[in-house]
Amino acid sequence: MSLFPPLFLFVSFVFLVVFTLRLRRRPPENEKRRLPPGSMGWPYIGETLNLYTQNPNTFFSTRQNRHGKMFKSHILGCPCVMISSPEVAKIILVTKSHLFKPTYPTSKEMMIGPQAVFFHQGSYHSHLKKLIQSSFLPSAVKALVSEIEAIVLDLLPIWDQTETINTLHEMKKYSYAVAMISVFGKKMEVEEMEGLKELYHCIEKGYNSMPLDLPGTPFNKAMKARKLLNERLRKLIQKRRDNRDDGGGLLGVLLGLKGKEQLSDSQIADNIIGVIFAAHDTTASVLTWLLKYLHDHPHLLDAVKMEQEDIKCKRLETNRGITWDDTRNMPLTNRVLQETLRAASILSFTFREAVEDVEIEGYLIPRGWKVLPLFRTIHYCSDFFPDPNKFDPSRFEVAPRANTFLPFGNGAHSCPDGMWSEKMTGYSMAPSPCPNKGCLSNSIGIGES
Ligand code: HEM
Repeated sequence: MSLFPPLFLFVSFVFLVVFTLRLRRRPPENEKRRLPPGSMGWPYIGETLNLYTQNPNTFFSTRQNRHGKMFKSHILGCPCVMISSPEVAKIILVTKSHLFKPTYPTSKEMMIGPQAVFFHQGSYHSHLKKLIQSSFLPSAVKALVSEIEAIVLDLLPIWDQTETINTLHEMKKYSYAVAMISVFGKKMEVEEMEGLKELYHCIEKGYNSMPLDLPGTPFNKAMKARKLLNERLRKLIQKRRDNRDDGGGLLGVLLGLKGKEQLSDSQIADNIIGVIFAAHDTTASVLTWLLKYLHDHPHLLDAVKMEQEDIKCKRLETNRGITWDDTRNMPLTNRVLQETLRAASILSFTFREAVEDVEIEGYLIPRGWKVLPLFRTIHYCSDFFPDPNKFDPSRFEVAPRANTFLPFGNGAHSCPDGMWSEKMTGYSMAPSPCPNKGCLSNSIGIGES
């Protein structure tokens, strides 16, 4: 009996040693593979404060210089891998896009509507994407050129009469009006438009607020407005269905679907709101930067004015408004626009989430980690865009290197608006084929070299 405790202890000790050695000899699958270099920052907050207190260019470039073009970090409560290599960004967004799903905060998904195109993968996504793209094809936009001109002609005298204008504010008014005719067609009644506008602005105010759903918070007000907007849209949809008049625009395309392809009212509403959100702020920001860059470079402003005056003269000679063909005949203006898209990089980066452990270039991206292709950092890399801080539209006289110019993203989730710019410039924005067979971006050339 007296031998038992020492024997028991000895056996336990041996087991413990063997077990520990086995554990040390056979690390878990994940540990065998290396995580990318980088710092995860402080516990819980990671590097979030650094990102929000530093110039984003500095935040990303210091880490890229220290760790290379694929590094780990921890922001907004999530471990993540940041990517500033065009080739790796292409793997994430195009070649292995099925392993990286788009990811958004739940509050944003609630606000826009969970059935909107952004939040989906697979057949539902590609079906919707085709529909959205079809209503932004040149053939559809051509028909809107004179309407868009009318919007500008209405706004110009107001700007002329006002001593000081807030450019972003005014560009938002303009891009909202353009978004409305693109989405609802030309037959929208003024009253209906105004009602939607009020609700939309309320949602916009709460969109980037703290997602605190308590009475009186901007988030709470925005969620209430979102509900009301849904009701208004359902009424509008019903009215168009009853009148057997789809009214044109994206709504017309979505209402025109028959049989199995038909979408429910809430699928339609979520996508209508989603597209307005995606189109409105981005376009207004690009236009604001465009005006700022022209203001800061008077020689370019003069050259752009000359190009536009030339077109205006031809129009006056033939007594006509601006046409689609005119917009295709503005090489300098288009280069200024391309350079604005690069220099301003409105979407600095996007988010994806690894759906399983993925190994890229010898590094492990664990399942559940966020992956951020850094568009802005790629646009500011001097290997691809020499003297990147210089605003120089002439750099676009030759097509940029493949996968280095990504203002509209790349792959299955790239922006439907990107095809516009392709048509204008004649070269592809993100020259890599979309792997998603059902995705229209393949057939119309988004992502093709
Ligand atoms: C010049 C202004 C714009 C810029 C810079 C821009 C940029 C982008 C980028 C970078 C993405 C990809 C996001 C990602 O991969 O996660 C995207 C997606 C998207 N954009 Fe735009 N966009 C602009 C204007 C528009 C307009 C006018 C529309 C209206 C149709 C639009 C609709 C969308 C939609 C629906 C998506 C999501 C596509 C999907 O998930 O498949 N955008 N945009």
